[in-house]
Amino acid sequence: MSEFPPAIVGSEQTVQRVGVALTAAGFTPPRLKDLLGSDGALVDAGRRPDALRHAHAGGDLGVLARLFLLADGVSDEELSGLGTLAEDLRCCGLVSQRGGVNVGAATMIPHDDILIASDGPGSDVSDALVPGVQGPSHLLGMLAIRRPVQRALDLGTGNGIQAILLARSSEHVVATDLNPRAIAYARFNAALNGVTNIEFRQGDLFEPVAGERFGLAVANPPYVISPETSFTFRDSVLGGEAISAQVVVGMSDVLEEGGHATVLVSWDASGADPHATPVGWVAGLPVDGVVLSTTIEPARSNAERWTAAHADRDAAFAQWYDYYVANGIEHVGYAAVVMRRRERHGRHRVIAVPPTMASQASDHLLRLLDGQGTTVAEASIVRLAPTTRITEVTEPGPDGWALASAEISLADGLGFRADLDVRGLAVVRSLVSQTAVADLPGDDADEVLGFVRELVELGFVVTG
Ligand SMILES: C[S@@+](CC[C@H](N)C(=O)[O-])C[C@H]1O[C@@H](n2cnc3c(N)ncnc32)[C@H](O)[C@@H]1O
Repeated sequence: MSEFPPAIVGSEQTVQRVGVALTAAGFTPPRLKDLLGSDGALVDAGRRPDALRHAHAGGDLGVLARLFLLADGVSDEELSGLGTLAEDLRCCGLVSQRGGVNVGAATMIPHDDILIASDGPGSDVSDALVPGVQGPSHLLGMLAIRRPVQRALDLGTGNGIQAILLARSSEHVVATDLNPRAIAYARFNAALNGVTNIEFRQGDLFEPVAGERFGLAVANPPYVISPETSFTFRDSVLGGEAISAQVVVGMSDVLEEGGHATVLVSWDASGADPHATPVGWVAGLPVDGVVLSTTIEPARSNAERWTAAHADRDAAFAQWYDYYVANGIEHVGYAAVVMRRRERHGRHRVIAVPPTMASQASDHLLRLLDGQGTTVAEASIVRLAPTTRITEVTEPGPDGWALASAEISLADGLGFRADLDVRGLAVVRSLVSQTAVADLPGDDADEVLGFVRELVELGFVVTG
């Protein structure tokens, strides 16, 4: 089993010094992209020979890229060229000797301004593998609420990326994980990034925070509906969709009144209403909830996707697909459930996440939840969210320029867009300043009210 991550050797100050020195040496996404022609993420096998050639001619930054991104051995002389950083890397356990050369003991990838160490591809640590920042980690980062709170929770912290992000707007973060290697990595990564307000606790689900309350919480649990138990980060021992249900329900219990949580989930979406299951989880809870649906995927392609990188792909696919067939699973759903704790049972609904988001969605999600908790009536005062945009296309015709089409869109968050007809366009144009719904243009007051409610619910328009 890999020696890394160690209990932090030396001091947290040494690890923090390594983080500062790596950044100063240009170990950042733009500089690595310039050097390697990749985004600073792991270089795939096809591009590795080119990337290695560039790294060998790339001075100190090239040496660091070879150690931590390209799994290439470096000589003592090359390592010594890094000066005091070389000693600090050895001291932290980030570099070790193998076969007469120095090798990186972990993969390290800069994500914007956060450095994350994790197990690399091919690490021999069986089910205790701690992967790097993956697609779902990015999705959760985009859909987490970011507002100042005293206490925040990251359940299933893994390499610690979500806890490090939460630490920016929280006085104190509690990060938990079942896997002790994950706790060690997360602690290491917090130190690497100079973050000192995270407390790490090992344990199962909510057991380490029993009886505690939080203003913000996130979880990217091992939600994959899988017949395997190969990886703690992916395959829950609870089986099926049970872990998704338990984390959603459990989160509502640990939130303070008005507190927010975002949880990634998956479920058997085979029924007539593919979202009935996650809606059912939220419906019984004292929360306003939004099920942000990302994918409803046929079982076959889902099985193909999860087994594509398997050494024996055909056998693995057969195992996964047979498991789905045996359990009557025709479709698998994926979503993020966003919740705001309310004293009484709140409202809930399903919204599809567009393939491309405009920006981190916290502000937009807060508007969606505000809209969901507000009753819009004729007397309500409403105005456009400042990020609402209208795009009009006019075409020349026999009577001059005429409107051909109009679109309303959001420049933030989920980046919604929808066509507007002439009546809708007139209403939206009138909403630039605060207006009572009753004063908006339109012959049919009910139709205008219904339209404005929809705009409020989608976060294009706010009340008050
Ligand atoms: C998909 S990874 C998420 C890692 C990280 N939070 C992220 O967003 O990239 C799921 C994490 O949950 C942890 N985990 C699995 N089962 C758990 C349990 N029963 N209780 C707490 N954590 C668990 C795994 O060890 C793993 O670190």
